[in-house]
Amino acid sequence: MKAVVYRGPFEIATEEVEDPRIEKPSDAVIKVTTANICGSDLHPYEGRAPLDAGMVLGHENMGVVVEVGAAVERVKVGDRVSVPFNIACGTCRNCDAGWTNACLRANPSGKPTAGYGYPMMGPYRGGQAEYLRVPWAEFNLLKLPPGTEYENDFTMLSDIFPTGYHGTELAGVRPGDTVAVYGAGPVGLMAAHSAMLRGAAQVFVVDKEADRLALAEKFEASPINFAQTDPTEAILEATGGLGADCGIEAVGYQAHDAAGHEHPEMVLDKLVEAVRSTGRIGVVGVYNPEDPGAATEGAKKGRIGFDYGSVFDKNIAMGHGQCPVKRYNRHLRDLIVAGRARPGAIVSHELPLEEAARAYDQFDKRIDGWTKVLLHPAAA
Ligand SMILES: NC(=O)c1ccc[n+]([C@@H]2O[C@H](COP(=O)([O-])OP(=O)(O)OC[C@H]3O[C@@H](n4cnc5c(N)ncnc54)[C@H](O)[C@@H]3O)[C@@H](O)[C@H]2O)c1
Ligand SMILES: [Zn+2]
Ligand SMILES: [Zn+2]
Repeated sequence: MKAVVYRGPFEIATEEVEDPRIEKPSDAVIKVTTANICGSDLHPYEGRAPLDAGMVLGHENMGVVVEVGAAVERVKVGDRVSVPFNIACGTCRNCDAGWTNACLRANPSGKPTAGYGYPMMGPYRGGQAEYLRVPWAEFNLLKLPPGTEYENDFTMLSDIFPTGYHGTELAGVRPGDTVAVYGAGPVGLMAAHSAMLRGAAQVFVVDKEADRLALAEKFEASPINFAQTDPTEAILEATGGLGADCGIEAVGYQAHDAAGHEHPEMVLDKLVEAVRSTGRIGVVGVYNPEDPGAATEGAKKGRIGFDYGSVFDKNIAMGHGQCPVKRYNRHLRDLIVAGRARPGAIVSHELPLEEAARAYDQFDKRIDGWTKVLLHPAAA
């Protein structure tokens, strides 16, 4: 089959690789109809997270089941499915408690987390390919209505829509709340959309990319361009000096200033300033225990100094981590079918697998208009 293969930093290629097959009775193989490129894919792409050359990329996958192992009963050949980016066994202590992002069995390295085509998430190949092997398919796969309707919306169910929603869950967004989202990338936009779905009174979205801020307005959020306006001042002014009830971090460790210089603590500090006392902050942007390319000596070892003193002083609650997709994807699917959610509104490009190298390059450079790229292997 054809697949998008990681060759090294800034180097990917669409190549022929061996077809996936059923390796265990609990596996399924799907024919991929859509696989998205994610901001997280840029971490290995830029050489900021170690990935073996030869790995097939892609953790945001959906498609149609073409083969199932003997132990798979619920899911049938021909079913249209969304594949959560977390690979979870379904029965370990963490999976059993609903924390499929921290499965204790799926990653042979022993690290409590596993996923497709991603650094340190196990040996599982990704789905930017014609076919994908899904372990523990009975547990992991979410069934979708048959056909092709809502493809661009459903494809957000594998990662970014649940991840944005998880940000609002960690931040405890309630009806009437004011919410400040930092980052207008796909994850931040999904967090803004989710906050509105949960009944927020006002949602601010902070970034410096004008095209992305314009998309925030599609979800009825108020954009703040941090290259032009100090977001803390704007948010304090809009909230009578109190600050936002909830803050969501959707940027991660490569947070940078308007001139493009990295400051890994920058967004955390800004959130602590903008969120009111007794407010809550949800961090879904990624921070790593090791980052040899980090801007500061401490950050190379995951030590990121931010204003924890004010977090304590203001009684701010914080939550963070990878999203347990299965916790939310069924409900979010049903909001799409009901016409209440439209996460596909952020799609900017739909391309065949052959165009992956160009798409990574443009998306990585944040070229105007490259917000969310979908690859359609079937069109290749
Ligand atoms: N927790 C999870 O399960 C999970 C899942 C998916 C993605 N992520 C992470 O979420 C983060 C965002 O993902 P994405 O796909 O939207 O990435 P992205 O890189 O496309 O978007 C990040 C945005 O942050 C903006 N930004 C940079 N510095 C900023 C600052 N100081 N203030 C405000 N905005 C700033 C950038 O301009 C960019 O638009 C990444 O760290 C990604 O790895 C986490
Ligand atoms: Zn992703
Ligand atoms: Zn498990």
